[in-house]
Amino acid sequence: MLILLIILSIVARFSLAYSQRSCNRFVEHAFTVVDYTWPTDSAREDAIMDGTFIQTNNIISGMNIYKDSVFVTVPRWRLGVPSTLNKIVVKDGVSVLQPYPNWGYQTIGDCHALQYVQSVAIDPNTGWMWIIDNGRINIFAADGTPTRNLCPPKIIIYDIDKDEEIDFYEFPDSVANRNRTFLNDIVIQYHGGKARYAYITDDFEGRLVVYDRKKSMSHFYSHPSMFPVIDNITISNEWIEVNDGINGIALSSDMKYIYYGRLSGFDLYQVPTKVVSKPGKDLHSFVRKVGDKPAHADGMTYGFDDSIYFGGQGDNAVYRWDIEKDRQDQDTTFDLVEMNTVETFIVNPSCINFVDTLNLDQKKNLWFSVNKLHKFLLGTMDFSGTSGPNVLIMKVPAGTTSYLSGRRKRKQYKEDC
Ligand SMILES: *[C@@H]1O[C@H](CO)[C@@H](O)[C@H](O)[C@H]1NC(C)=O
Ligand SMILES: *[C@@H]1O[C@H](CO)[C@@H](O)[C@H](O)[C@H]1NC(C)=O
Repeated sequence: MLILLIILSIVARFSLAYSQRSCNRFVEHAFTVVDYTWPTDSAREDAIMDGTFIQTNNIISGMNIYKDSVFVTVPRWRLGVPSTLNKIVVKDGVSVLQPYPNWGYQTIGDCHALQYVQSVAIDPNTGWMWIIDNGRINIFAADGTPTRNLCPPKIIIYDIDKDEEIDFYEFPDSVANRNRTFLNDIVIQYHGGKARYAYITDDFEGRLVVYDRKKSMSHFYSHPSMFPVIDNITISNEWIEVNDGINGIALSSDMKYIYYGRLSGFDLYQVPTKVVSKPGKDLHSFVRKVGDKPAHADGMTYGFDDSIYFGGQGDNAVYRWDIEKDRQDQDTTFDLVEMNTVETFIVNPSCINFVDTLNLDQKKNLWFSVNKLHKFLLGTMDFSGTSGPNVLIMKVPAGTTSYLSGRRKRKQYKEDC
């Protein structure tokens, strides 16, 4: 029985890795253009008329899941994005975005509302969504219009089940500068039985921003491994020059290590949470390069089985680093393990065309957004439908759950932070 299971799992992984067949069975939602659940048809027409909705400036980027709900962000990189945080709903067989928590939270210029959300972390134990808002819009304008630095960057914690705001924290300019910041990705760390710290990548400033919910304080760390670097990324015969700092981030399920990297770089780094959770440490002796990714990767996520999933932009793939296998093979510990075993989790040039954000659910599926982001940024995206959908939300069985799984039941877990 055991042998049979092992063979089955090898076959399963092999067929996933090398299947060139249509990946329709893994596509949960597909979008050629993004549209919303407008209160009325005339509200939609008015928004198009007055420029608050410019459909070709709307693309899904961040995504996360809670129970059966899929939440996605539409970055306000350009003007004409009516709602930056949304939940996917299906109307007459078509996937559309319902502003989340509601339209009121999407008001541009209202600093209590959301201005531009790139990512959210969702705690499966509590149903709390940790939302990072940049406070700025139009940071990647293609038409020469200026960036608008409207509000201080902030973090909002929102209880999905109770539908109420739990926390609201504005970052001081000394931690996240309202004129320069790009809060890109977020992971949350349990400490003493509660989700306490958020680690956020500031892509433009090359910083790891840390929010301590218990103390309602924040600080940041910076290190050359986080600074922006320029590289060209080639995807299916198109190339784009990317100038990117610390971007993707993952947190180990024992809560001890943060992993991070850049979209424009191959290096993957590790730093202990014990060091960065508190301010004032000298980071230099603690940052460790664990290895090189096989390709450029944007988001990352950590599986409960001690693995990290990330995209392979030029390879139309998702990769999986089996950390536990390398730890055993190298007969070492997590603070010394080097990245050797990187498997192809799924590859398919027809549907995996720029992997953006990845997250694991509690039913052992890997979810990720694919969005042809290079085409969007280059202005070569085909919104007519002739070239197929532009955004896919994919769900692939992975055999493991999120890094945050079961924290509530593991209160006794020793966390030496
Ligand atoms: C942000 O930019 C505005 C306009 O240039 C300036 O008045 C303000 O002092 C800047 N704030 C910070 C924190 O740099
Ligand atoms: C990217 O490619 C272009 C065109 O080949 C080249 O001019 C540019 O220097 C490249 N940039 C980098 C960072 O390699």
